[in-house]
Amino acid sequence: MRHRSWAEPWKIKVVEPIRMTTRAERERHIREAGFNTFLIKSEDVYIDLLTDSGTSAMSDRQWAGMMMGDEAYAGSRNYYNLERSVREIYGYEELIPTHQGRGAEHLLSKLLIKPGDHVPGNMYFTTTRLHQELAGGTFHDVIIDEAHDPASEHPFKGNVDLKKLDALVQQVGADKVPYICVAVTVNLAGGQPVSLANLRAVAEYCRPRGIKVMLDATRAVENSWFIQQREPEMRDRTVAEILRMTCDLTDGATMSGKKDSLVNIGGWLGLRDSAIAAKAQNLVVVYEGLHTYGGLAGRDLEAMAIGIRESVEEEYIRSRIGQVYYLGERLQEAGVPIVTPIGGHAVFLDAAAMLPHIPRDQFPAQALAAALYVESGVRAMERGAVSAGRDPVTGENRYPKLELVRLTIPRRVYTQAHMDVVTESVISLFEDRKLVHGLRFAYEPEYLRFFQARFEPVGAPVVLESGAHAGASVDRHFVLNS
Ligand code: F0G
Repeated sequence: MRHRSWAEPWKIKVVEPIRMTTRAERERHIREAGFNTFLIKSEDVYIDLLTDSGTSAMSDRQWAGMMMGDEAYAGSRNYYNLERSVREIYGYEELIPTHQGRGAEHLLSKLLIKPGDHVPGNMYFTTTRLHQELAGGTFHDVIIDEAHDPASEHPFKGNVDLKKLDALVQQVGADKVPYICVAVTVNLAGGQPVSLANLRAVAEYCRPRGIKVMLDATRAVENSWFIQQREPEMRDRTVAEILRMTCDLTDGATMSGKKDSLVNIGGWLGLRDSAIAAKAQNLVVVYEGLHTYGGLAGRDLEAMAIGIRESVEEEYIRSRIGQVYYLGERLQEAGVPIVTPIGGHAVFLDAAAMLPHIPRDQFPAQALAAALYVESGVRAMERGAVSAGRDPVTGENRYPKLELVRLTIPRRVYTQAHMDVVTESVISLFEDRKLVHGLRFAYEPEYLRFFQARFEPVGAPVVLESGAHAGASVDRHFVLNS
């Protein structure tokens, strides 16, 4: 049979113009932004792959739902619609809405962690770990070793290593481990999935020891698609069924609706235990807003209630991850080092492999993301030592094995042609990679430093000289002195 391509299961009804800039403009912008892509103005970006968080395009049904916002302070009908969506799709009886994922992480950490506790997780996530630490806990990475190897082809690189988990529990005692946080997929490992078999084994280990299993469900729909594709016994299950089986193994979940659920703002904490839920409902009033709106407008709750249902449609999820694969495979064909297997929400460039001439303490991934912006107007994000921050006890920089640049694909926003431009931009930068130079901190904020830090070039002029590239001016030579 002839090959038949697939296409996105939607067509475009509204467009938002984007603008190319000249290389000279981008050189100025990156310098003004302290070489941090978070500090570039959005209007100066051509293709924005900073994050998949809150950057989705909503459907016509979601926009229609926005008009049905019930903006009552208490008991908004949209809250009950969201509660129904979460109960039916994720299966958590108790729903506490929050303004976004970290709001839910804050509540969960405050409720369950006592000073001196230990919280294992399958690789850290920035906001999750910080809230655990602020509550007095110590985070422990119990992900399998393969996750730290960008070239490992393990199909479930997000899996928990039961031996590492057991070693921690033996060392500190189960009573000091209130819960394990299992993230599906694992963002900082490269959007890598966790298998259902592994999650089941984690739950079986934890239950008799009184350790709760808390899901970071932020990209659990994408994780379910990987399970369907890679776990043979799950092949005939729908993504919605697999998502439900995943959640059924857990005691609760924190959720950033800004990813899987196709909305621009919103999150929630889902629980089963009504006593803990009552405490969370009380605490949410302190930090977010009443327990029926959690810092969101009624219209935001409605958009999320609808987005949750759209997110588990098979055709949608196939095209979403298919687009990420399209970009990843083009880069692989060109020999660009990326994290393999390709993840669910992003393609991660292996900056350490690409820029071996830049030492880790000069932040190769930060420099690469800055160079990509100057090269092409494509905005990506550092996911390496800058994101990892400092050890709260020693104050030393943490150097994770992975030093990555994340090309994060917003959902339902860009076309295949945009992905082609991104491919060409990365390849052009790859060819000139020897001309990228390192960076050092000019300003380092205390919390989550990657968002607001500023940098300056180390020694020689930064970045590159280049040939033809998207949106560039004619000048070939490109010098970035601070
Ligand atoms: N958990 C994971 C796995 C995440 O990726 C994020 C956010 C959060 C929790 C926190 O959710 O942003 O709604 O407060 N990740 C974004 C990103 C910021 O770009 O990866 P939030």
